[in-house]
Amino acid sequence: MIQVAEKPLFRILNTDEVPRMHTLESENFPSDEADSYNMLAYRQRQAPNLQLGCYINGIMIGFIGATRYNGETYNKEAMKTHIPNGGSVCIHSVVVQKEHRRKGIGLKLLQAFVKQVKEEQNNVTKILLISKPEHIPLYERAGFVLKGKSDIDLGKDTWYEFEIPLQSKY
Ligand SMILES: CC(C)(COP(=O)(O)OP(=O)(O)OC[C@H]1O[C@@H](n2cnc3c(N)ncnc32)[C@H](O)[C@@H]1OP(=O)(O)O)[C@@H](O)C(=O)NCCC(=O)NCCS
Repeated sequence: MIQVAEKPLFRILNTDEVPRMHTLESENFPSDEADSYNMLAYRQRQAPNLQLGCYINGIMIGFIGATRYNGETYNKEAMKTHIPNGGSVCIHSVVVQKEHRRKGIGLKLLQAFVKQVKEEQNNVTKILLISKPEHIPLYERAGFVLKGKSDIDLGKDTWYEFEIPLQSKY
């Protein structure tokens, strides 16, 4: 019987899904870019509402992982420290499993994440991320604005910083 893929669903992921996050992270990023299990577990523990899973037929096939930080730019410290009331949401991972790519899922995941931040996170003035050159069109389509080349030294790529400015809720 042919199984028809359902539409992707998005929801905040649970503590017991960190192993699946880690599998997706290590299968979809080069080893010099992938975050460790402990780092993903830290982010899920500290900022559970900023870890958004993407599910097809009940299986997690992608996720966005983020934390909060204070500062105008995305930097190394923001990658490893969550500041609960920090004004910036920093996205660290955007992942869609290889066999599900180029079907618009990454874009929908980003749109769902931005909506979630706007609805659920207080006192946030911006969402920041860094991108490889090949993913610039994806982030532009998701509404992010290119700020320029990032200073981040991670893996072999040159990185570009993007931002969505938000009106903070007080
Ligand atoms: C980046 C990633 C999440 C994109 O997921 P995806 O589901 O394939 O993205 P989408 O299908 O929603 O892409 C939407 C649009 O973004 C652009 N885009 C996405 N991936 C692209 C690529 N590799 N090259 C060029 N444009 C791309 C295209 O404009 C695309 O529209 P199109 O397919 O109609 O041309 C996925 O490739 C991935 O997980 N990569 C490995 C991990 C990674 O590098 N993450 C990003 C860190 S910067």
